[in-house]
Amino acid sequence: MSTEQKKDSTKLRWGILGAARVNERLLPAIIEAPNSELVAIASRRAGAAKATLDKYAPCHGEVACYDDLIALIQDKNVQAIYCPMANEEHAEWALKAINAGKHVLIEKPMALKVEDIQAIEAAAIKNNVKVMEGFMYRFHPQHARVKEIVESGLIGDVLSARASYSFLMRQARMYRINRNMANGGGAMWDIGPYAIHSLRWCFAKGGAPAEPISAIAHAKLNEAGADIVTSGVLDFGPDAEGRARLGHFDISFERSRKSEYEIIGTKGWVKCHAAWVFQNDVPVISWALEDGKYAEERFAPSNHFVLEIQHFSECVLNDTPTYLTFGDAKNNCKAMEMVIKAIKQ
Ligand SMILES: NC(=O)c1ccc[n+]([C@@H]2O[C@H](COP(=O)([O-])OP(=O)(O)OC[C@H]3O[C@@H](n4cnc5c(N)ncnc54)[C@H](OP(=O)(O)O)[C@@H]3O)[C@@H](O)[C@H]2O)c1
Repeated sequence: MSTEQKKDSTKLRWGILGAARVNERLLPAIIEAPNSELVAIASRRAGAAKATLDKYAPCHGEVACYDDLIALIQDKNVQAIYCPMANEEHAEWALKAINAGKHVLIEKPMALKVEDIQAIEAAAIKNNVKVMEGFMYRFHPQHARVKEIVESGLIGDVLSARASYSFLMRQARMYRINRNMANGGGAMWDIGPYAIHSLRWCFAKGGAPAEPISAIAHAKLNEAGADIVTSGVLDFGPDAEGRARLGHFDISFERSRKSEYEIIGTKGWVKCHAAWVFQNDVPVISWALEDGKYAEERFAPSNHFVLEIQHFSECVLNDTPTYLTFGDAKNNCKAMEMVIKAIKQ
């Protein structure tokens, strides 16, 4: 029997491109997902790939560690690549991986320009590979429940939504975001994609996200041109009865951790309290109605990173469409560009 025949066809073989901090969550998730296997990790910094593997998966078996990103892309054992590189590097490295025939899960934001996402899409079609933007939060069951509540008509017609995402960025971690927004720096490109993605989804109907027609925004920039705080409003246009539909967002690196969104309708509201679901967060949603009825719904623990990896592996192994599409990635990028353009500097 050849080596190829001995490989487990029920598991997608993953490689990780870059020894990024977020591997703290994704690397164990790839190992934990039942239909996935971690087979390689690479970094441009000597020894960083091995150090990352040792840190997040000590004693893990046969994983190739490369000090060279191209070596991982060319590794024939690797079928899918997780790309957690710096935001401005996503498009370049995703294209290299796709053109080598690899399926790619690209961290959010997929790219900084809609044209780059179009190029990634064209390459994915040409090479017949799956590509998805890594919005892990959407794989947590709490969001499907929020949507179920909205679509049941319980809170009436959706006219307003608020999304608030923040955490205190430590000085030692500032290198990640400390460059001009045009080059992928700042809070808007780091946590802004979640806020915009959630708002587009809050107004979604029948599964298709809604798209804003205009935006206003205000930001505080640092000396490098990176936004540290941004707040604004997306206008989703009037509903059939001419009522305004506005989405408010605020993101910050100066405040305590928050990752919540709230949907307000004509009869009540529903709120997701912790979209990031960090270690000590209890996944809970709440809703209230005009007549005073109030409820909280708690969810059993589930790891959205594992669910995201499991989903992507399933799509590759069964050749089924990914839950998050290129259309969604392009529209999120368009809305991001709209907000950044609107920022009064
Ligand atoms: N889904 C989520 O929950 C989540 C959370 C955080 C971030 N993200 C996204 O994930 C991506 C990576 O974010 P991150 O915060 O993990 O980035 P990061 O730690 O700054 O790593 C980004 C890249 O920079 C290089 N790097 C890492 N540490 C470095 C260091 N000390 N000095 C120099 N270079 C270093 C790595 O490439 P080499 O190893 O090749 O040098 C790595 O691929 C971003 O797109 C971000 O938006 C997602």
